[in-house]
Amino acid sequence: MAAKHWDRKDLLGLESLSASEIEFILDAAKSFSKSSKTFDTLKGSTVAFLFSEPSTRTRSSFEVAARRLGADVLGFSVAASSLLKGESLLDTIKNLEAMGVDYFILRHEQSGVLEPLAPLTRASLVNAGDGAHEHPTQALLDLYTLREKKGRIKGLRVVIVGDILHSRVARSNIHGLRKLGAKVTVCGPSALIPAGIEAMGVSVSHDLDESLRGADAVNVLRLQLERQNQNLVTSLSDYFGGFGLTAERLSRSPGCLVLHPGPMNRGVEISSEVADGPQSAILEQVSNGVLVRMAVLSLIQGWRTRRGR
Ligand code: CP
Repeated sequence: MAAKHWDRKDLLGLESLSASEIEFILDAAKSFSKSSKTFDTLKGSTVAFLFSEPSTRTRSSFEVAARRLGADVLGFSVAASSLLKGESLLDTIKNLEAMGVDYFILRHEQSGVLEPLAPLTRASLVNAGDGAHEHPTQALLDLYTLREKKGRIKGLRVVIVGDILHSRVARSNIHGLRKLGAKVTVCGPSALIPAGIEAMGVSVSHDLDESLRGADAVNVLRLQLERQNQNLVTSLSDYFGGFGLTAERLSRSPGCLVLHPGPMNRGVEISSEVADGPQSAILEQVSNGVLVRMAVLSLIQGWRTRRGR
């Protein structure tokens, strides 16, 4: 049954959402695609960013979305904050909330850090990536892009290739794709596929050429070398040879859409010819990210308004 309205203060991940809640967000995003107007949905609200890991797309995209909805945006830098003097994340949130911050967009290196904090604040928390756990708005914009390009999600065959072990994007995508009825294959070297991932309802492959046969889309993930404390791949050139998406490989799957959440390591997991080629929707994903984040913020604002917050 389709969701009638959004009934959550926070967006922490896709695992806890129903298929109809996910579709509700995608439909709301679509409604923003029809004009480049600005709105006053969040007028009088303040959005703050707590990012303890780097970001180009997510942070900027949320900022564009928040401003288009009329919010005030607090330019807060974790690196120049008292978090570095040992203040806890909760105390930081409570202090900024006391100044009138209504929304926190958070990125953190620790998986699951937001769940215990959310009930302790009146502000709304939106997960912009926590460890290897979830990156819900990235998966939502991937789903939105797939739905726009393929006309549906149900029944699609989607390959996620790369560093699945460290990837919050993979986990959120798997939750979303499975809930909406897609068939998912995760592909990569054994060392980068977490044990037991089949329990999430996916197939596992170590052969990219075989995985791509008949695939509707391939989501290419970056090797997260900064999270690897041991050499999980023999060399970057070996990795590219085995799992890099090249034009030659893709030529056997002419209907396969290419996605990548960014940042891309060209020549490591994807060739420039593919990244910039006709099957790539990578920059469309980035554009769609603004729509999806506008949808998330405005749906949560609806919840806050109904609760008198
Ligand atoms: N896709 C993504 O999360 O990109 P950033 O790290 O640049 O935000």
